[in-house]
Amino acid sequence: MDAESGSGAWLEEQPLAGGHVNRVARVGDTVRRTAAPSTVTIHRLLSHARGKGLSWVPEPLGFDELGREVLSFLPGDVPHEMPEWVWSEAVLKDVGGALRQWHDATVDFTVDDAVWGLPPRDPREVICHNDFAPYNCVFRNGRFVGAIDFDLCAPGPRIWDIAYTAYRFVPLMPGPGVGAAPGGGENSPFAPSIVAVRLQSFLEAYGLADPCLTYELPTVLSVAANRLEAIASWTEEHVRVSGARALERHPAMYREHARWLRAWC
Ligand SMILES: Nc1ncnc2c1ncn2[C@@H]1O[C@H](COP(=O)(O)OP(=O)(O)O)[C@@H](O)[C@H]1O
Ligand SMILES: [Mg+2]
Repeated sequence: MDAESGSGAWLEEQPLAGGHVNRVARVGDTVRRTAAPSTVTIHRLLSHARGKGLSWVPEPLGFDELGREVLSFLPGDVPHEMPEWVWSEAVLKDVGGALRQWHDATVDFTVDDAVWGLPPRDPREVICHNDFAPYNCVFRNGRFVGAIDFDLCAPGPRIWDIAYTAYRFVPLMPGPGVGAAPGGGENSPFAPSIVAVRLQSFLEAYGLADPCLTYELPTVLSVAANRLEAIASWTEEHVRVSGARALERHPAMYREHARWLRAWC
């Protein structure tokens, strides 16, 4: 595959900023990302999900002449600084429903020689996205229209993903003006009483019409704390190996937020 358009003109590469992990460029209506050992597995997974009707995940289009993975470009906004509309009730419900769709579509995904970017976790109920957060979702007119960045997918329990997505979208963080991490961190725009209502709303959107998929608030809070500690360790290692200085302060924030969640539940 090359970067030539159907009309024969060469398409320019446009770097896509925002993520701190990969080099990503847009070429026409595709994106090019550095490939990893897990890329072939992830492409099969994306094809599997699209085959189940999830047209909101990128279409895997193989590899380019530089060995980068090629995916369809999903038009829209990917927020990195959180705009006001990210906190709307509509987005909260969209995302709860979309995460549920993703999980349901991956329940039966199996390949013999799978290579994952993170170690699988038991119980292996679904394929967790493991980073289903605003900065990996695409929005148009303030509504969810897609998800990207499936590098960290791995088999695991639904609650592991639910807890992190709730952390990011509810968000399960200390309210305005409450000190978070040394050197500053992210805060929720909402007071804890509203955070609890929003969490309930998100969980309802996820578990809609299935009594087996209702999760208790304290369980979600405590899994979120475990998840944040795991991300803190992963990020420390990633910074050590890659020198990604933009992420240097994140582990301290995740650990502080985990302590705050444990005190709450
Ligand atoms: N398939 C896609 N469609 C639209 N935009 C994308 C797509 N993949 C990546 N991007 C853009 O590139 C940025 C970085 O991509 P991402 O895959 O999240 O990389 P990282 O692993 O560094 O977080 C995203 O914030 C988004 O703006
Ligand atoms: Mg990303």
